[in-house]
Amino acid sequence: MPQEYYTLGIHIGHDRGASIVKNGVLFAHLAQDRLDRIKHSEFPDIPFETIDALLNYCGLKVTELAAVGVSYVNVEVDRFTPELKDIFCAYYNLQNIDFFGVSHHLAHALSTYYTSDFDRALLFIADGAGDAVGDKLEAESVFVADGEEIYEVEKRLHEVILDLPSRPFLYNYALMNETDRKKEISIAKKYEQFTNLLGFSHFQCGKTMGLSSYGRPMIDVRSYDFRGRGLSYSLRCQDLLDKIHDLKLASGLSYPDFVRRERANLASTVQAFVEHALIQIVADLRDRFNLENLCLAGGLFLNCVANHKLIEHALFKRVHIVPAAGDDGQSTGAAFGAYLQACGPPKRTSSSLPFLGLSHSSSSIRRSLENFNLKYRELEDLEMAQVLAMELGRGRVVGILRGRSEMGPRALCHRSILADSRRPDMKQHLNAHVKFREVFRPYAPVVTWEDQHKYFDLKQDSPFMLLAATVRPAYRDLLGAITHVDNTARVQAISREKDPFVHSLLREFEKLSGVPVLLNTSFNVAGEPIVETPHDAISTFLSTGIDVLALERFLVDKAQNTDRL
Ligand SMILES: [Fe+2]
Repeated sequence: MPQEYYTLGIHIGHDRGASIVKNGVLFAHLAQDRLDRIKHSEFPDIPFETIDALLNYCGLKVTELAAVGVSYVNVEVDRFTPELKDIFCAYYNLQNIDFFGVSHHLAHALSTYYTSDFDRALLFIADGAGDAVGDKLEAESVFVADGEEIYEVEKRLHEVILDLPSRPFLYNYALMNETDRKKEISIAKKYEQFTNLLGFSHFQCGKTMGLSSYGRPMIDVRSYDFRGRGLSYSLRCQDLLDKIHDLKLASGLSYPDFVRRERANLASTVQAFVEHALIQIVADLRDRFNLENLCLAGGLFLNCVANHKLIEHALFKRVHIVPAAGDDGQSTGAAFGAYLQACGPPKRTSSSLPFLGLSHSSSSIRRSLENFNLKYRELEDLEMAQVLAMELGRGRVVGILRGRSEMGPRALCHRSILADSRRPDMKQHLNAHVKFREVFRPYAPVVTWEDQHKYFDLKQDSPFMLLAATVRPAYRDLLGAITHVDNTARVQAISREKDPFVHSLLREFEKLSGVPVLLNTSFNVAGEPIVETPHDAISTFLSTGIDVLALERFLVDKAQNTDRL
């Protein structure tokens, strides 16, 4: 049998996690918050719980690893690597193991290039802040990948400022001191500033994006020019906020009243600004490096509205965004980095995406159901698809846990809550009884792969719910539950090859409804990580208004368990 090579990647910071690369291909990935149930799992410790779970799932011993890669955030990773190696070796009782530090933006770059199918690509990385470079932090980075060669061509730096959302002097112009006003910050940090101004935490930029569709930009963002200078543009802590401050003064309102009144317009302003900046910067890079393919990573590229506009306007032939574009994808880059060092160049393939987490056996599911004293039925796949489609068509809400959990923060029908995409009242029902979240946030659709362009004006295929496209006019009224106020939807398209069960469920739903489109939202309630285990799924099922639960081939109907609830 040919020798098999495995490397482990670890990320420490927020969104800790672990990944395993096997023979150059991403083989397994899990975010620690799926297990510890603390959203974003922000701790400075190695996530051993996740590492153990992945090694166990893959049937691997730590001694079978060729190497380990580790990434961190806001540090010079090489300064921490020896200490982390000692901790790792002590935990596993190892004398030694090849152990490499992988810097933050390089880890993002490796995570997206080696999960793409491209032979050559421009890699653009943008997040709140990456690793330390001297007394500054990485803001945006550009790499060129040509076959097995990857080299960094440009980097812009973020001047370190106290980074606490509870400190209003970081996002309120009136309270900023002169020194902080002039500091250079990343594009993603600009988005976070507005997110903080709106009263959300820096992990809640998605709320700002959802809210932005209800407003209009308050400033002409075209007055900011990013063309013709690569990454040597300036974006300061005060930019945009100084103009917002002028508008606030003219309004005669206090800051809280002004923000309350202009909430959606403030969100729309920063959204328009980021779209404008990204389109100009990336189009410029395309012209400079003359490459057809673009790979994106970093938390900024969880912004599915900006992503689709970038694809629309920046004119690359193909764009790939790794599903874990935020720091939950760091461990993937670290695993690829270790592979590069210890085993040679990884393969470039998207084939293993996105179902890379844990799956759960029938016996463990049965045990969990019995622990909760629930009545259940066991169904074959086709019958399960038919029953779920019928329940969905009746307006019932279905929780589903099947197969390996998905990589990244979007539920892609392996840990999802599904509902009828046609019912205009479904959004309110889910907000009030299932998800308990803000009324302004949209719900996303899942559609059969072959029908994605029929229903949505997508500029390229959308497998990972990272692109928000316009719902075609003929279907906007019909798909009322998933069409946002600006007529967009954040699309997941799924093929029969990638998931035959979900594909057949969509086809069964189409037989009843005329559309192979379901509403798909993450299987969690507001503020909690997505469920990972049958126990998590049953707990959420019982504590919310989900009507039916499908755990692999086990079906639980709340209506048939009223005597036990
Ligand atoms: Fe990052």
